[in-house]
Amino acid sequence: MKRPGWSFPLGAISALLLGVPMLAEAAPFTEHWAAYPSPYFYSYGGSANTATSVAQSGMTDGRALQLKLSAYPAAGVGGGITQESSSRYRYGTFTTRLKTTNCSTQPNTGIVTGFFTYFNDGGDYNGNGLPDNSEIDFEWLCAEPQVIYLTMYTDFGPTAHRRVSRILNLATGTVHSTCYYESFSGACQPLTGNENLPTTIPALAGYNSSTAHYEYGFTWTASRVTWWVVHPTTGQRITLWDYQGPASRIPANSSHFLTNIWHTNDWTPPSRPLATQPPNSARYAYVDWTAYVP
Ligand SMILES: *[C@@H]1O[C@H](CO)[C@@H](O)[C@H](O)[C@H]1NC(C)=O
Ligand SMILES: *[C@@H]1O[C@H](CO)[C@@H](O)[C@H](O)[C@H]1NC(C)=O
Ligand SMILES: *[C@@H]1O[C@H](CO)[C@@H](O)[C@H](O)[C@H]1NC(C)=O
Repeated sequence: MKRPGWSFPLGAISALLLGVPMLAEAAPFTEHWAAYPSPYFYSYGGSANTATSVAQSGMTDGRALQLKLSAYPAAGVGGGITQESSSRYRYGTFTTRLKTTNCSTQPNTGIVTGFFTYFNDGGDYNGNGLPDNSEIDFEWLCAEPQVIYLTMYTDFGPTAHRRVSRILNLATGTVHSTCYYESFSGACQPLTGNENLPTTIPALAGYNSSTAHYEYGFTWTASRVTWWVVHPTTGQRITLWDYQGPASRIPANSSHFLTNIWHTNDWTPPSRPLATQPPNSARYAYVDWTAYVP
């Protein structure tokens, strides 16, 4: 059973005593991963997995964060490797430059690379019968590394949730779907109008998230969430999804900021329905930098 993690936290008590705001305005930061650990992020996951700062050419400062998922990990985030911010952030722009996990030696591997915000303390503050879940995601599956999953959750319970999601292939410029869902088994309710902008995306020829670093970002406000990738040669932003739908479908709680890789045994990409194998050797993702601007 899931219980609220901090119904009346120490921070709130000292804030009352000292008369300071409970959640101070979050300061901007850029983590270049020149050294490890980071002052902004803590690490968790399977014991055989590691996070380290490594020398790498082509990086802004010559170094990258290396996330290593060891062979045959347990399925799920807990068996993976995650960097999670100690602070929580509400609204602002979240960016990174990363290369996702490469599964070229075993094409039917199930590995997720995630770059996202997340908060869930088990509370149902909007009273809709489901635990609130503030989450905005970029996710990739290594078996089809041209496909990007963009998702926002506002509620997440054991059998039902509330999410909007766009799935696209950036190499071909194909939007596979843009939907609202109430469970993983539920039907896609297609989104239209200001929940489905832009209706088309350009192709980024040769895009393969696992062969090169790309710069990704999203801007989160109370009424709009925009996801983009930076074109590697022109430097222009390619808007992947510019969601301007009901505020009730946009997360509202200050959230942790995370990057992770983990094994999935039940989530497969459009072209590879058999990609559920655990990796049979160690796999890696590399992060040049991670940044936040309020
Ligand atoms: C993406 O790159 C990986 C690693 O080089 C390669 O195995 C895979 O075939 C590429 N996929 C596509 C669709 O280009
Ligand atoms: C992908 O992984 C394979 C095997 O580990 C490696 O030989 C190859 O260089 C990697 N490709 C890229 C683009 O990193
Ligand atoms: C989450 O947001 C809701 C709605 O704004 C608010 O009532 C609630 O107190 C927030 N919860 C936390 C834990 O910050």
